[in-house]
Amino acid sequence: MIKRILLVLALLFAVAQFFQPDRSVPVIDPADDMLAMSNAPPGIRKLVMGACYDCHSYATDYPAWAYITPVNFVIEHHIEEGREHLNFSAWTAQAGREEARECGESIAEGEMPPGNYARMHGHAQLSAAEKQELIAWFNATLGTEEPGSDAMEEEEERD
Ligand code: HEC
Repeated sequence: MIKRILLVLALLFAVAQFFQPDRSVPVIDPADDMLAMSNAPPGIRKLVMGACYDCHSYATDYPAWAYITPVNFVIEHHIEEGREHLNFSAWTAQAGREEARECGESIAEGEMPPGNYARMHGHAQLSAAEKQELIAWFNATLGTEEPGSDAMEEEEERD
């Protein structure tokens, strides 16, 4: 009896693998990319692409396990949510938004990249120095939430 139940479950799991979320994205226009538009230096590009682009762009790099049902649907939902808040691949429409100005702050507060994601992706693990570099760059390039706040700059000068 238990064997039979396990067999049925295994079959269901196998069939479930044919159900995949819609991962299609619009054609990416390289000229509409945040890093291209802001002329980001290579070091910054690498950090931002490694730590933010899986959820905040159309250039998501899916690991193999992200295709396993039902994890795939959970992941896709999370990515869509991330893109709704901020999409670095469609920057013309996003640049002036409040969320754009919160990028530095989201890293400083440890909200982004999300901890559970960073633990599973080495390329999203930022050292303290890399965080400082990214925060300073985001604040200088995309602005900060409160214009005139210079707390970040003071921190930089002390280094
Ligand atoms: C694993 C997916 C994921 C990664 C990687 C990720 N984010 Fe997010 N981000 C989200 C989701 C989902 C939301 C919306 C829900 C929330 O605020 O938690 C979000 C929201 C945001 C917001 C809006 C804040 C708000 O409260 O509305 C900012 C700013 C942001 N992310 C910046 C970044 C930056 C900068 C990076 C890279 C250092 C990054 N994120 C990496 C998933 C991600």
